[in-house]
Amino acid sequence: MNEQFIVETDGLEEGGKGFRFDVENGQGEKIPAFAVKFDYQYFAYLNKCGHIAVQLDYMPGQFFSDDGQTLVCSTHGAEYAPDTGACLGGPCYGIGLESLQINEKDGQLFLINDDFQIVEKKVVNEEG
Ligand code: FES
Repeated sequence: MNEQFIVETDGLEEGGKGFRFDVENGQGEKIPAFAVKFDYQYFAYLNKCGHIAVQLDYMPGQFFSDDGQTLVCSTHGAEYAPDTGACLGGPCYGIGLESLQINEKDGQLFLINDDFQIVEKKVVNEEG
């Protein structure tokens, strides 16, 4: 199994800013992705809305609703469950986010999904 380091878990706040990175699939297609912390666990998804294939965050790294309970697409407000990626409401019409398999080890997150290679990581500006 190919473990690819994503980010230190310290860099992710509960219900707060997510960490953005790009992955490449087997066809050489570059796809944005992100990792978040929710309910003291970590989750990663392709950054692609179920409604239209755009990135969820208009302000880079801001994926959560104000109450920190759902992931929200900034374009038309589709809401997703942070722990499963399931569509909860809005115009995602039952199409959830595609999750990435990750593993937490010694305060670090790793992508363990062999279908994707990390090609870029993005530092999100604290002000943004
Ligand atoms: S593109 Fe995400 S809700 Fe429409």
